[in-house]
Amino acid sequence: MIDVKVLIDKAFEAQQFCYTPYSGFNVGAALLCDNGNIYKGCNIENAAFTPTNCAERTAFFKAISEGDNKFTAIAIVGNKNGLKPGEGDFCAPCAVCRQVMAEFCDLDTFKVYIAKSRDEYLEYTLGELLPLAFTGKDIK
Ligand code: THU
Repeated sequence: MIDVKVLIDKAFEAQQFCYTPYSGFNVGAALLCDNGNIYKGCNIENAAFTPTNCAERTAFFKAISEGDNKFTAIAIVGNKNGLKPGEGDFCAPCAVCRQVMAEFCDLDTFKVYIAKSRDEYLEYTLGELLPLAFTGKDIK
């Protein structure tokens, strides 16, 4: 596992590219693969609202579409327009993003870092954030 601070830095890098004309709420994510690759994602909004894609899912879909599908951790940052790192609150992943994570990640070992700044972050396993997860094994 790389230093969490490096992953948080990448999430802030991703946040710069958010397309958020409707909410003004900017989320960045950095997804670490077991081979060391990191995929960055931002939220991308839409005038019709429902096509909006969260930062976390952007990162996952980028990785999977490039052939990477083994994941170790994700760092997430989010705040309203105009706030500097550390000024906002912790931005927890939405339930849809947690469900997408559960499709591809181990509930007990995949780590979710919810960060305000590179020094202030919360650490959870995916299983802690999505108890009693519904996954592919439930429909076998
Ligand atoms: N958003 C994310 O990108 N990730 C989350 O997990 C929570 C919500 C985005 C979606 C929308 O563009 C904005 O934040 C406000 O909901």
